[in-house]
Amino acid sequence: MSTPHNNAEKGDIAETVLMPGDPLRAKFIAENFLENPVCYNSIRGMLGYTGTYKGIPVSVQGSGMGMPSIGIYSYELYHEYDVKNIIRIGTAGAIADNVNLRDIVIGVSASTNSGYASQYRLPGTYAPTASWKLISAAVKSAEEIGSRYHVGNIFSSDTFYDDSGSLAEWNKMGVLAIEMEAAALYMNAARAGKNALCILTISDCPLKGLSTTAEERQNTFTEMMKIALETVDKIKNI
Ligand code: HPA
Repeated sequence: MSTPHNNAEKGDIAETVLMPGDPLRAKFIAENFLENPVCYNSIRGMLGYTGTYKGIPVSVQGSGMGMPSIGIYSYELYHEYDVKNIIRIGTAGAIADNVNLRDIVIGVSASTNSGYASQYRLPGTYAPTASWKLISAAVKSAEEIGSRYHVGNIFSSDTFYDDSGSLAEWNKMGVLAIEMEAAALYMNAARAGKNALCILTISDCPLKGLSTTAEERQNTFTEMMKIALETVDKIKNI
């Protein structure tokens, strides 16, 4: 069995999947954080691997950039490969005044300018929300690691280069950070009756004109990976 985008066989993918946007980051994570990683997908270069962490099976799969891309990969993981939990791990731009470079943001909910929800024909505005068991385990992990972290609403945008300059409006609503995938992931999880969470590190502050160096991104990336992997450990019996 395979899908148009994934040549894994059923059973090749663990019930919990970590999803970075960049497929080469998936390779890096598999090779540096997992034991015995095996590559199960290379279609379109969207690499996916399964290995173990503390003996627990875990997969790591690139999502690509933007909601259409993560929408495809996460839909297939949930519906074709019996995946239960997807944890997106990515970078984001700070929006809230108290969110700084290298901080960790755990996205409880994801506001969006995307039309992704229109497919569900809801008579109102849907609020894409992460799964409490993943939020709670990630917060505990961030506490244990001693991270500087924030928990709250994030903004999933369809545009990286945006003409409207609307970040100040999202700032007024207490939104913490901007990224481009979480809302679609949360909606796919909800529709499939599965679990999702997005953990982010702040790579830039668009409102303040700041960004991290490559070395800083690597260090905070490692911290985010530890939070994500400890989250996998904490939910193993739930
Ligand atoms: N916009 C959208 N996505 C992002 C950003 C941003 O400024 N920074 C990191 N991911």
